[in-house]
Amino acid sequence: MTKIWGGRFNKKTAKIVEEFTASIHFDKRLFKQDIAGSIAHVKMLSKQGIIPSEEAEKIIQGLKEIEIEIRQGQFPFDIKDEDIHMAIEKRLQEKIGQIAAKLHTARSRNDQIALDMRLYLKEEIEQIIKYIQTFQITLLNVAQSHMDVILPGYTHLQRAQPVLLSHHLLAYIEMFKRDIERLKACYQRVDVMPLGSAALAGTTFPIDRHYVAKLLGFSQVSPNSMDAVSDRDFILEFLANATILSMHLSRMSEELIIWSSQEFGFIEIGDAFCTGSSIMPQKKNPDVAELIRAKTGRIYGNFFSLLTVMKGLPLTYNRDLQEDKEPLFDTIDTIKSALKIIAELWKNIEIKRENMFDATKKGFLLATDLADYLVTKGLAFREAHKKVGEMVKYCQKVGKELETLSLEEMKRFCPLIEEDIKEFLDMTKAVFRRNSYGGTSPEEVRRQIEVLKKELL
Ligand code: ARG
Repeated sequence: MTKIWGGRFNKKTAKIVEEFTASIHFDKRLFKQDIAGSIAHVKMLSKQGIIPSEEAEKIIQGLKEIEIEIRQGQFPFDIKDEDIHMAIEKRLQEKIGQIAAKLHTARSRNDQIALDMRLYLKEEIEQIIKYIQTFQITLLNVAQSHMDVILPGYTHLQRAQPVLLSHHLLAYIEMFKRDIERLKACYQRVDVMPLGSAALAGTTFPIDRHYVAKLLGFSQVSPNSMDAVSDRDFILEFLANATILSMHLSRMSEELIIWSSQEFGFIEIGDAFCTGSSIMPQKKNPDVAELIRAKTGRIYGNFFSLLTVMKGLPLTYNRDLQEDKEPLFDTIDTIKSALKIIAELWKNIEIKRENMFDATKKGFLLATDLADYLVTKGLAFREAHKKVGEMVKYCQKVGKELETLSLEEMKRFCPLIEEDIKEFLDMTKAVFRRNSYGGTSPEEVRRQIEVLKKELL
């Protein structure tokens, strides 16, 4: 059969060209959006008197039947049809005959594909936001039920100061909150209706683009037809947001991997969420977390591949734009599966609270507290810092911790130190004392949890 666009051609398309240019094998996932867009377009054509209403009815009926065929797996997908738009239009022709040829009045595949992508992405962004929120709630539950767990907070992966595990988890909830904010902002720019831009310059028909936007639930109509068919920055913006989101997931995964190592022993990941080794019988590996970390690589890659595709394109539509789909689809699938599994992973994590607390006992985590104490006794912070530094040096030499120094030993460094120092060298009390807004004290963390509960539940 000749192509729908075959009028000016004398020869059949070479098979190798058909294979090379086809996108049907991946853009068929847009069938729902393509059909919804066509139905809205036909309703508008009929309302505007551009096509008769009985014909519009037939087209709409045919499109609805095609949607059912596709959903039931009965649709004859064929690489010769090039893409989902052609495949559906050809099938419509088979079903209702020549009337089908009117569907494409005042439309081009260029605005059609832009519409499909926007409809699709809007739905996916909404879903991804829900996935993130579900995960945030899982983390919040862990935070709430482990309020008494203290572990070392790190800088440079060196033990720094004691913190609540809940505080550590809330840090991630904050990151994911910003990820959601970014996605919501991106959604507004996706939520723009491009149909009616036609090939690039608009159309001579008296169309009503705002009516189409209303039917399809768009809040805006694209103001420039040339921009509308050639812009893909709404996809780039989403891919960029997804890279940041996946980076957050990767950092968390990295921590889970480290924490589950024998060296740390802070957590144990349940058997159902680990895998073994084919040679080393003793192994239990955190592969899920490793793969979430690894998949971040392809999500970064997808962003960069489309950015590179776009960089040299003159206005307006170029076939290059077809290469926007696979990176987008892959990022969406990957990020959704990562979000889904990391939430489940957390439900299979056992917190080793004693090990976490034990780790705070080595590494002079209360050095800052001691310096703060000296400040309350009248020293300037820099002087206090220096004195405590000397005490740490001494501790290392004699194999002691700050907490195990006698009052007499401490006084040698600074006579201002008195009996009340004991209060300052208590790990739990040190956490309680960090009561500044956003700090790690239980009171502050409880306040943060209440705020998050209001936002999330
Ligand atoms: N499959 C194409 C794409 O994904 C659809 C638009 C084709 N338009 C065209 N004039 N060849 O971008």
